[in-house]
Amino acid sequence: MGRTYRVAIAGATGAVGTEMIRMLEKRDFPVADLRLLASERSVGVKLSFRGEPTPVEKLTEDSFRGVDMALFSAGAPRSREFAAAAVRAGAVVIDNSSAFRMRADVPLVVPEVNPEDAARHQGIIANPNCTTIIMVVALKPLHDISPIRRIVVSSYQSASGAGAKAMQELLDATRAAIEARPYTPTVLPHPYAFNLFSHNSDIGANGYCQEEMKMVHETRKILHDEEIRVCATCVRVPVLRSHAEAITIEQERKVRVDEALAALAAAPGVRVVDDRAGNTFPMPILSNEQDDVLVGRIRDDLSCDRGLALFVCGDQLLKGAALNAVQIAELLC
Ligand code: HSE
Repeated sequence: MGRTYRVAIAGATGAVGTEMIRMLEKRDFPVADLRLLASERSVGVKLSFRGEPTPVEKLTEDSFRGVDMALFSAGAPRSREFAAAAVRAGAVVIDNSSAFRMRADVPLVVPEVNPEDAARHQGIIANPNCTTIIMVVALKPLHDISPIRRIVVSSYQSASGAGAKAMQELLDATRAAIEARPYTPTVLPHPYAFNLFSHNSDIGANGYCQEEMKMVHETRKILHDEEIRVCATCVRVPVLRSHAEAITIEQERKVRVDEALAALAAAPGVRVVDDRAGNTFPMPILSNEQDDVLVGRIRDDLSCDRGLALFVCGDQLLKGAALNAVQIAELLC
């Protein structure tokens, strides 16, 4: 029998944390022992792992004794507060928050794109922003044919990216709207039913929100190319758990549509959904609960001689978060 690992999940009761448990089960990760950690509020809750009710414990600095791998998805403040304690205890931290992503000593890893970076960790490996992960999985096979020089991307982001409470708010607000009842949003900043709005992260001095700037900086770090220019517009749409993105790229040389299709069809983690005759392309109901990023609508960019346009969709909770984190853990085995 191969080696088994003692694993902890910090933020185990959240939308991503519960999917991390499911991914460890589904991928048959060699778990010797699973420790579920969350805030005091969740102490007493039991979550099922491999058919066994597993108690949730309070996340403290002492939670990581004996732990080999600690998956964090409890938000950046909790990561800043507790990741160092996990590393001191000897665990490798795989952090889903934005706390450490841009630190030079922290690899930012998408296993289909830059798996080799994981080996350079010094205790912490960062899981990129979900919108960035989904985009780079689709773009890496094209970048390998001819380097991408410029990306223009518009995202259509699901409620799940803002957490389990935002998913519930979408359901509650939609029910209220259908029943013509008033509903006051408490999680997201604007009415969500039958509406969409600019991403709910703060807008910086340059007019871009944090989510958009994450796509700029993280894409460059993952692809090891500081020259790539990225212009992102991030939008929250009333979809439960898959992000979609309309992407146009400019490459060093013109890549033909058939070349792009062949590369994407052969790429790991990608499924081409490109049925022009049936007008069927990637959509959230096709990517929900799927591991692959769906890619389609691959066509020439009519505004740019060396450009291609495409549309992608990926499950925000899986490839955008929990699955990518567990794949990183697999790289360490
Ligand atoms: N930033 C993403 C979103 C989720 O707001 O949808 C976390 O990566």
